Amino acid sequence: MTELLTSTTGSTPPQRLDADWWRQATVYQIYPRSFADANGDGIGDLPGITSRVDYLARLGVDAVWLSPFYPSELADGGYDVADYRDVDPRLGTLADFDAMVAALHEAGIKLIVDIVPNHSSDQHEWFKQALASPKGSPERDRYVFRDGLGENGELPPADWKCMFGGPAWDPVGDGQWYLHLFAPEQPDFNWHNEEVRADFLKTLRFWSDRGVDGFRVDVAHALAKHLPEDLPSEAELAAMDTATGTHLLWDRDEVHDIYAGWREVFNEYDPPRIAVAEAWVNPPSRRARYASAAGLGQAFNFDLLEADFDPEAYRRIIVDNLDQAGASGSSTTWVFSNHDVVRHATRYGLPPNGDRPRHYNRKWLLSGGTDPVVDTAAGLRRARAATLLMLALPGSAYLYQGEELGLGEVAAIPDEARQDPTFFRSPGVDVGRDGCRVPIPWTEDGGSYGFGDAGAHLPQPEWFGAASVEAQSDDPGSTLNLYREALALRRTLQTEETLTWVPSEPQVLHLRRANGWEAVANFGPNAVPLPAGEVLLSSGPLNGELPGETTVWLRN
Ligand code: NOJ
Ligand code: CA
Repeated sequence: MTELLTSTTGSTPPQRLDADWWRQATVYQIYPRSFADANGDGIGDLPGITSRVDYLARLGVDAVWLSPFYPSELADGGYDVADYRDVDPRLGTLADFDAMVAALHEAGIKLIVDIVPNHSSDQHEWFKQALASPKGSPERDRYVFRDGLGENGELPPADWKCMFGGPAWDPVGDGQWYLHLFAPEQPDFNWHNEEVRADFLKTLRFWSDRGVDGFRVDVAHALAKHLPEDLPSEAELAAMDTATGTHLLWDRDEVHDIYAGWREVFNEYDPPRIAVAEAWVNPPSRRARYASAAGLGQAFNFDLLEADFDPEAYRRIIVDNLDQAGASGSSTTWVFSNHDVVRHATRYGLPPNGDRPRHYNRKWLLSGGTDPVVDTAAGLRRARAATLLMLALPGSAYLYQGEELGLGEVAAIPDEARQDPTFFRSPGVDVGRDGCRVPIPWTEDGGSYGFGDAGAHLPQPEWFGAASVEAQSDDPGSTLNLYREALALRRTLQTEETLTWVPSEPQVLHLRRANGWEAVANFGPNAVPLPAGEVLLSSGPLNGELPGETTVWLRN
């Protein structure tokens, strides 16, 4: 199925030019400001990424997903984009971007960039124009403006809450208010506006022409909105059915008309550009629409990310998602960690409570790492076992920078250093997402553990030295080497997108792929007999049996 074509450009190694390259790819998410800082200003940058391409190649990833690197005031870590077709000067230039793409491609690594279509930054030229223009103007029509209630429009049009806490409507001083489902610095676009639609097609072509292989689509389920003359209350909104494609804000059926237009652009390229939707939809079966080949093509499934370390939960999630992916013709996506959630090595060190953090750590607070108490050894052991199981599943696997080091969440960030709007808009309730966005450690010591010559923009804890790439690189038992070996093997073992379950005791999941590649995960506390087969890799020592909280790969 996978075609290896020899490149005609001389020194470039063979590239996988197969249009299906994404179906079972391992994709490594880079949060650029926290990856590597080449010019020593404390902020990670594009030349920093280019300087670490060897590391990514050695790790064995197929693609990089780059979180936003566009000009931004950083009200939401770059998800507030001021210019969709440029690079934040703090992160580099377009020439640096081109050099990064060339280096990644040279190493056989694809690049997926984040695209943020639901909202721009309030610093975007269009929003500035909207503020400078009168009510009813074409400039205001690109965003969602409404008259306020009350005699002079001094009251919000509705009592809606934004995702980060606090009101979703903000006044602009002339009786009108604008909608922001996220931070006030992130005004929502009006996707009924033709200019908005056309401009995003231009952006997709702009990056595709620069060699980008695909797009991760932020809040893909929110673009199409229907705001009636009389707006419902927050309570009425919350009570609306999300299953029928008719909710006023989320997952409306007509959002797919937008993506059908995007697909036409993707298909202008060879191989077609790919896309993966961030779409929090309910019921999960509605994901198939986003994953359709006539639309974005793939959609994130965050089910494992939300699950406890529990075999029955895992089995149900795996079965359901493989079924759904089959129904849409797409492949599924597995993910345990990203820039929005508590890192899984920490999550799995917490007592299971059926109320795992979703993307904004709501109802779950890490107070300096002591409340609740984190069992770091158990967390890492379970995270390694879970990851090794995930990497044996059909579909693509999305990894988040630093998880290959077994990094846990950084809990001890002083309030004055925090950056996440969640923290500011829900003081004392949600600490936010900074704890998973701390610049990653490359070396055992040095000012910022090799991140750059200056300090890091979020404080790194002392335990980062021992968790660094340098500390782990030559240690055969390190998490880094577990990932390296697993990714290298996965490449050679990858086979058709099916699995069968091998009967096992309840605490164990035992799956087999078409070519005899097996993964056996023991979720229980006690050892079980090691099933027959050639041992390829394990998440912990075996000692002739399969210990508790350990996964092994076998070949039969
Ligand atoms: C989802 C992104 O992953 C998150 O980081 C961001 O805050 C929101 N979308 C808003 O863009
Ligand atoms: Ca820098």
